[in-house]
Amino acid sequence: MTYKGIILAGGRGTRLDPLTRVINKHLLPVYDKPMIYYPLTTLLLAGVTEILVITNPGDEQPYQALLKDGRQWGITISYRVQTRPAGIAEALLIGRDFLGRDNCVLILGDNIFYGHNLEVTLQQAATQNPGATVFGYRVEQPELFGIAECDQAGRVVNIIEKPARPRSNLAVTGLYFYDHQAVSLALSLQPSARQELEISDLNRLYLQQGRLRLVELGAGFAWLDAGSPESLLQAAQFVATMEQRLGEKIACPETTALACGLITPHHCGGN
Ligand code: DAU
Repeated sequence: MTYKGIILAGGRGTRLDPLTRVINKHLLPVYDKPMIYYPLTTLLLAGVTEILVITNPGDEQPYQALLKDGRQWGITISYRVQTRPAGIAEALLIGRDFLGRDNCVLILGDNIFYGHNLEVTLQQAATQNPGATVFGYRVEQPELFGIAECDQAGRVVNIIEKPARPRSNLAVTGLYFYDHQAVSLALSLQPSARQELEISDLNRLYLQQGRLRLVELGAGFAWLDAGSPESLLQAAQFVATMEQRLGEKIACPETTALACGLITPHHCGGN
């Protein structure tokens, strides 16, 4: 199964205003590197080598200057624009030509995943995907996320976007593995009350078809979404602490590409 990757790096970034007034959120630093390096390296760990970056009109140039065409990391990176933030599921429609009939890993540009053997978890998700595979993570403020409700046997029975009265604290993180039907299912979605094509609605369609799998990221994994001042600071502190303790950088595309065998040492020379 071939998976192509999409990084969604548009949106208004209002929770980080004024930081995001002239700089796209996913270019802001998370400790020692731009935020987008984190989802980018997550895609590399998942085995994805063809990546589409979707961003806002006018923001393509700095991304192209930073990430180029990906050749330096043994991958290809192309770029598309989302004219206005009309919802996460719209990424699949914008990426329609890019995806063709291939499967897709969609990741939100502000999502940071870290964990022991993360690549194994990701590659299993790719091979054992019944249609859609999502990742759950226990959170303290479930009303801020897409939330998975499970029955007593632990099976997902519903997914609700930002529930006012959450029945669980199992957030659906911003990393989604979809089969080739995602585009046609996304085409059938109607905008929500906030005029967005909701990713939780797409996930619910897969759930209703009995083709959604949720993998809970439990002990040994950290998930952070760096979309607010508090979580951006927390993410930076997390990365700084991990790098000091591990004695190496995390989410460095060059190191990850080397480890994944996408480039050889003679390729390297600055990141
Ligand atoms: O982080 C996980 C959560 O992300 C999920 O639990 C939710 O189900 C999902 O809806 C989303 O919630 P957020 O409130 O965090 O979404 P936000 O609007 O902040 O957008 C997340 C990222 O996607 C952000 O980096 C900007 C980008 N984005 C978002 C939208 C709606 C776009 O590029 N275009 C868009 O139209």
